[in-house]
Order: sequence, then structure tokens, then C-alpha cells
Amino acid sequence: MLAGKRILLIIGGGIAAFKSLDLIRRLRERGATVTPVLTSAAEEFVTPLSTSALSAQKVYRDLFDLTDEAEMGHIELSRAADLVVVAPATADLMAKMAGGHANDLASTLLMATDKPVLIAPAMNVRMWEHPATQRNLKTLAGDGILLVGPDEGDMACGEYGPGRMSEPLAIVDAVEAALKDGPLKGKHILVTSGPTHEPIDPVRYIANRSSGAQGTAIARALSALGAEVTFVTGPADVPPPLGVNVVNVQTAQQMLEAVQQALPTDGAIFAAAVADWRMKSASDSKLKKDKDGTPVLEFAENPDILATVSQLTKGRPELIVGFAAETDQVIENATAKRKRKGCDWIIANDVSPETGIMGGSENAVTLIKDSGAESWPRMTKDQVASRIAHAVAEALT
Ligand code: C5P
Repeated sequence: MLAGKRILLIIGGGIAAFKSLDLIRRLRERGATVTPVLTSAAEEFVTPLSTSALSAQKVYRDLFDLTDEAEMGHIELSRAADLVVVAPATADLMAKMAGGHANDLASTLLMATDKPVLIAPAMNVRMWEHPATQRNLKTLAGDGILLVGPDEGDMACGEYGPGRMSEPLAIVDAVEAALKDGPLKGKHILVTSGPTHEPIDPVRYIANRSSGAQGTAIARALSALGAEVTFVTGPADVPPPLGVNVVNVQTAQQMLEAVQQALPTDGAIFAAAVADWRMKSASDSKLKKDKDGTPVLEFAENPDILATVSQLTKGRPELIVGFAAETDQVIENATAKRKRKGCDWIIANDVSPETGIMGGSENAVTLIKDSGAESWPRMTKDQVASRIAHAVAEALT
């Protein structure tokens, strides 16, 4: 919810500006007040009238407008918001921000503000990939500017690739995350969750009994402490939490790719029950009972995502937490696993059928760090998640 929050929305001049009109509606639906600022290029794409009608606010356009200055000066305008959002953030606006220019209303507001700034870039793929834009992006990240997107996909110019502005609802999520308070505010944490499905043929797959409940609860708890969470999930039984960036995958290989895309992050919690094996070669057509006889399934080993990320020499998250679901000698096995995989913490749990933990609502875990093991009493998965989130917050702040 954004009730009572004030957003200064700077709309840049790109075709994605039409999506900013929807963004205004979405932000207002959640209770925010949106004050729009149009660059002169933006006025080529959306009109001041539509922007004003949708926001129910005066639209600001000109740095040297005497009436505006008399009512509310540009310095005051830049400070009156809780958050400044730039959507679409064009290559030109990003360059101005990185260079510290202040030659029109938008760039002046961005220089004068003392509030957090979130940008949603949108531009042609070549412009996005241009070294100048990537250099500016690094500068802006170093200045503490928050980023959402861009997405990859078909572009209005007919090309394909990264550069599409994030969808309005994804920007709303980023706005909510930016305005959230808590010890993990400003931290980006990756969470993997759920099982993976490894196809045998187009209709059959190998899976496991993970419901995704514990990973989902952890993502929700981290988000509640203010973290920006990227939630990479296999096909889980429970819906993903609200307010996190959800990346849906099916297989272990897709999960690894999604994790690599999400990095770098400050922390990473690997709660997914990743299948250890996949088919050496999945069949493109459905295996037939009569024609093929009893199939012999040949396996290949899946990548170990936790170990791969833990052993990164560049871009390794500061805190990496793995899980060890064991059925016997839980602490010994989990302690050895922590060493073998190279993660910082392991959360060990006993998943023997008699515990009812796999698929159930409770969990009994032992947190294993370098300094030793700490067993927590049996509690709900939500309580385990909250305790883990607080421990993560303590370690990262
Ligand atoms: O080896 P095992 O499956 O018991 O390891 C469990 C931990 O490793 C969990 O944190 C799980 O998410 C992670 N893992 C992984 N990739 C795999 C297998 C496990 O990230 N292929």
C-alpha cells in the first residue's frame, strides 16, 4: 500500500511514456499522490491534459514558468515528494543525471532533490547496450539511484532485446520496495524456492515433494524487513509473495540462468529443492507405451546452483545461505555440506516422513555457521522465516 505517499513522476520522452499514464493510475489505486513532470520530449508522446486528468494534479513542464515558481518553486517541488520516479528514463535523461546537468525542469529537480530516486529505463536495445549508457548506469548505481528493469522483449522500433520499460505493476512493486522501511532497506536479496520439474518428454517430468512454503515465507519475511527480493521459483504449490520480483522457472538449468541474471545481490538464500538429475536427453515427442516398450531413463547431473554461486570469485553475494534437507545424521551431514558447497550458513532440517516437515506447515531447523550449530525449537515455517530474515539483517547491516 502507498497510502499517503507522494510520488514525483518525471516522464521522459520515449514511446514507453504511454505506459506511464497507466503507472499513474496504478500508483493512485494504491493510495499514492502522483505529481507529474513532463519533459518537452515527453509532450511529443503524451499530452499534459491526459497526464493531468489521470493524476488529478497540476502537471509541471517548464523550469522558468513564473506562475509555477510563485506557487511552488522547483526546489520545493523536488523536496515535497517521498520518492522521485523517472519513467521512462531515456538514455538522454540518464546521461544528464550521471553528468549532473540541470538545464530543464526534470534535470534540475533530479539535481535538487534530497529524496530517493527510482529510474525505469526505456530505450532501443543498442542505446541500452551502448558503453556510454552502461557507464552512466554504473555511475547512477554508485550515486544510490534505484533501478527497475529494463525488460527484454520486442521493441516498438522492431528490434528485440533489453530496453523495454518495466510494466507499470513491476514499477509499482519497486516503488513500494523503495518506500519500505526496515533494517534490510536498500539490500537486494535473492531467494530460490520450490521444486524443479525436469522433463522426460513433453507431458511427463521428474519432480519432488517441495511445496515452496519455506522459501516463500523467507522471501515474504525479507521483503517485510525492507529488502528488495528477487524470487526465483520452480513450480510451487503456494503462490509467490506480493511485492517481490518473481522469476518463474521449471528446470534446474533455467533456475541457474535466472540466478545468474539476478546477481549481483547482497545476499542469497537457496531454499529451492533442485532436482539433482535431469534426463540426459528429454524426448521431443511423447514416449509411446506400445511402440517404445518400457523406457530406460538415462540421467545427467544438474548444475549445483548453490555451489556455483558460493564459489564465484567475482560478484559473490556477501551472505549465502543454503538448506540441507536430510533424513539422518542431520547436523553432521549438513556441516559437511556447508564446507563442500562453500556457502556461509546452512539451515539443516530433518525431512524424514515421520517429521511431517516436507509439505507441512512447521519446521525444526539448525542454523550452522562457521562458529557452530544452533538448533531452533520446532515452529511454523513463517516463524522460521522471520528468524532467518532477522539473522540475515543482522549479518548484512
Ligand atoms: O545437495 P543438496 O540438494 O542437499 O543441497 C541443498 C542445498 O543446495 C539447498 O540450499 C539447495 O537449494 C541447493 N542446491 C542447488 N542446486 C542444486 C542442488 C541443491 O542450489 N542442484
